[in-house]
Amino acid sequence: MLAVNEDRIASAVSRLGSENAFEVLARARVLESEGRRIVHMEIGEPDFDTPEHIKQAAIDALHDSHTHYSPSAGIPELRATIAEYASKFRGIEPAYDPENVVVGPGAKPIIWNLLSSILNPGDAFVYFDPAYPAYASAASYLQADVQAIPLLEERNWRMDLDELAQRVGPKTKAIVINSPHNPTGGVLTPGDLERIADIARRNDVLVIADEIYSRNFYLDSEFVSIASLPGMRERTVIVDGFSKSYAMTGWRLGYAIAPKELAKVVTLFNNNTFSCVATFVQRAGIAALTGPDEPVRHMNATFRERRDRLVSGLNAIPGLSCTLPEGAFYAFPNVTKVARDDRALARFMLEEAGVACTGGSAFGAAGKGYLRFSYAASLDDIDYALERIAKTLPQFTER
Ligand SMILES: Cc1ncc(COP(=O)(O)O)c(C=O)c1O
Repeated sequence: MLAVNEDRIASAVSRLGSENAFEVLARARVLESEGRRIVHMEIGEPDFDTPEHIKQAAIDALHDSHTHYSPSAGIPELRATIAEYASKFRGIEPAYDPENVVVGPGAKPIIWNLLSSILNPGDAFVYFDPAYPAYASAASYLQADVQAIPLLEERNWRMDLDELAQRVGPKTKAIVINSPHNPTGGVLTPGDLERIADIARRNDVLVIADEIYSRNFYLDSEFVSIASLPGMRERTVIVDGFSKSYAMTGWRLGYAIAPKELAKVVTLFNNNTFSCVATFVQRAGIAALTGPDEPVRHMNATFRERRDRLVSGLNAIPGLSCTLPEGAFYAFPNVTKVARDDRALARFMLEEAGVACTGGSAFGAAGKGYLRFSYAASLDDIDYALERIAKTLPQFTER
């Protein structure tokens, strides 16, 4: 039998990161199987059911035999629907064409294929820290020079734009932004976006705008996309998907909207990796974007209520402090007064309090000293979690 020892594994694998939330989930499931009550606040997925009209569209598509391969960029009807929806929602003019759109099984593989399309070894790739881990993982794998701009709690988790201006230069291939932001819930202001656009234009750099939380937005103002600013339509790639807005995480459906030449290259990577997305799932995506918007608004109103309950509850616990997230569905409390090692505290929370959450340093060095709680949990669960945290935290000791 072939022995698969370390020598047989490609050395490039050592450059891959991973999403710690999935590891926490696995341990939480073990504890549950032993009969423990666990509140799941580790994983970034809405706890709502996928809206009925979307499920029905997939069922109808199955009955209509939409069960075969489809084009690697997505079925034309979905690409056209996304182009129209995304242009209208973001006020993009002229509107995107279907050829700008590339569909994938979730935004995550689209991120991988997008970065594979643009990064040469040594290219500078500027993103932010803390961050959703997929960016640094793919860019490091591709041997880019990965440069992180720290996000600042005192700026309500927006980046220091003077530092960004200094960092971006002739070697910079792309800047990634993610607003609303995972893991902090921070939202870039229109002024921030203007400044980032200015930096991108002056340095002739591509901006990747991960807007997967654009519908999970709690400010009274409208969501603003950097792609809608002057001169930015042609130098922005929007990354978006159905997981967060429509509670469709398990369906696996996401997309990029890119300049057409780049969209073709991403499609080539799609062709070489997953070939295409399940056709009936794409049909369900059309129903999501063209059907009633009420379920999305309902989910967001509920998230907002939970956010308020969780954040005020966390701030009432001695030693913890938490800024008010303006989007997404995460709270990112500062725990530096009670722990040096946030991951150890996250483990303690799971094992002792029965609250599954993620250590902030799993999202990068600047996340050290924070925990991430996803508030995709019921108000009852949130109350229970807060009670358990308040009760057990005084027993936390660092070894
Ligand atoms: C910022 C960000 N981008 C992209 C994704 C990928 O989502 P999916 O692959 O489910 O579309 C996530 C998921 O957590 C995310 O938080």
